[in-house]
Amino acid sequence: MHKLKLIGPFAQALTMDGIPLKGPLSDDRLGVIHNAGILVNGIAIEAIGTFRELKSLASEVEQVEGELTLMPGMIDVHTHICWAGSRAGDYAMRLSGKNYLEIAQLGGGIWSTVTRTRETGQEDLALITAKHADKMLQQGVTTLEVKSGYGLHAEGEWKMLKAIHRAGEITRADLVPTCLAAHIKPKDFAGSAREYLEYTVKNILPVVMSGKLSNRVDIYVDEGAFDLQDAFHYLNEARELGFDLVVHANQFTRGGVSLAVRVGALSADHLEACAEEDIHVLAASDVIPVALPGASMGLGAPFAPARKLLDSGTSLVVASDWNPGSAPMGNLLMQAAVMGAYEKLTMAETLAALTSRASAALRLSDRGALRPGMMADFIAFPCSDYREILYNQGGMGPEVMWKKGRRVKG
Ligand code: NIG
Ligand code: FE
Repeated sequence: MHKLKLIGPFAQALTMDGIPLKGPLSDDRLGVIHNAGILVNGIAIEAIGTFRELKSLASEVEQVEGELTLMPGMIDVHTHICWAGSRAGDYAMRLSGKNYLEIAQLGGGIWSTVTRTRETGQEDLALITAKHADKMLQQGVTTLEVKSGYGLHAEGEWKMLKAIHRAGEITRADLVPTCLAAHIKPKDFAGSAREYLEYTVKNILPVVMSGKLSNRVDIYVDEGAFDLQDAFHYLNEARELGFDLVVHANQFTRGGVSLAVRVGALSADHLEACAEEDIHVLAASDVIPVALPGASMGLGAPFAPARKLLDSGTSLVVASDWNPGSAPMGNLLMQAAVMGAYEKLTMAETLAALTSRASAALRLSDRGALRPGMMADFIAFPCSDYREILYNQGGMGPEVMWKKGRRVKG
């Protein structure tokens, strides 16, 4: 039996409780509590309310200094933070006018990261991944998804997924691994793209599932990656094996969205190349659209049509896509705030996209809002008005943070 610890007082607390999964949100949905306190029982939230009303229930008080605004820890549902090497050279080529495919043909791109990642040992990869996760944690991300996809053969993919698990023991953030063995067809695979996917279904995925390395499968559908027909077949096979499905969809070319809907994927991520029809298809489904503004910024590409998606009735999640190629920044709050300014998202829509709605895209029902029974993951910004959080466009990070009820910052 844990003691009940009251943390506070906070000038404001955003509970993000009771926010619907889909559709536009006005800021009055945020559930702001003034002069708030949060009562913690071990790793879980016992109660949230005013500091004064909760005081009588507490056996211990953790007082905070200064004016702070509290919100749930952010959840980043799409990252590729397990990698070795740098792609600064790709970035320079891109600034000189080369596109993503040309850079790949010139020896850069995903394949160059595969080469470096294959050469790197599992423990070193775990340390790199944990370092990336710790950077995100300090920026307020308490749970993050991490994809494989730079191994692209059985040993390489298993090594990455094991490194991600090992990194989860090093960092205090929670990591959710996803198998992206279907990132691109590896250059050294002697066969067609379809044959590579067959090889993956037969030789990689069963071990991923039985070894509990991941229960999520992702595929990159695009020019230079996998086509729709092969991907459809692959995703159905992965579902048969028991995996949740996600799709890198509509980054440069269309088609991925309809595929994601047809196979009942949990989310369709990227969506920079969406037509009206794709928006309608998503709106008629339960697939969660995930916008990746970090990839738009890294590539100098348009943002996903977040405003139109919400107005058509879909959900909206924002993730960083942090990876060495298309999204090298790795600052989720800044990316979400900037995309929100361009796309005219309300503060409630952007904050929900980072918390309560993001939890649904990872099927995590125990986080993303501050309410009794939820995991005690929360972050506090140095301000007395929640609007300062996005107004500062990522320039103001959280000053104090708790993960599973314990302080990890401040
Ligand atoms: O989500 N588009 C495919 N995959 C990644 C990029 C990975 C890389 O360039 O290394 C993305 O943008
Ligand atoms: Fe990605």
